[in-house]
Amino acid sequence: MIGRLNHVAIAVPDLEAATAMYRDTLGAIVSEEQALPEHGVTVVFVELPNTKVELLHPLGEASPIAKFLESNPAGGMHHICYEVSDIIAARDQLIEKGARVLGNGEPKIGAHGNPVLFLHPKDFTGTLMELEQV
Ligand code: CO
Repeated sequence: MIGRLNHVAIAVPDLEAATAMYRDTLGAIVSEEQALPEHGVTVVFVELPNTKVELLHPLGEASPIAKFLESNPAGGMHHICYEVSDIIAARDQLIEKGARVLGNGEPKIGAHGNPVLFLHPKDFTGTLMELEQV
């Protein structure tokens, strides 16, 4: 069901510092900051030859990242995103197998303009999982 690794997302307390670290220390290509109010985050994409790293920083009052950063003040891996070809079919198969879909269960449009869903970390070895239809 799952396909390519689309990205690994890392929550960071200081987006400018994290972007500079990836760009200047690690020599990676980084995007401009992109505000995603619907997801409560500002993101920067680090473009790697085989995948992306998404740097996430809280945006707005009810950001899902804020709590994570409270528990992980230095930042840390927040989620991992796998590609699927049909997100509704993937969701329905996973629900049938007992996995929990976060939110209202309906895909939202993610940072890359594609439908995304998040799956409960307790069902996936403690890792928050994002599915993106590509
Ligand atoms: Co993501």
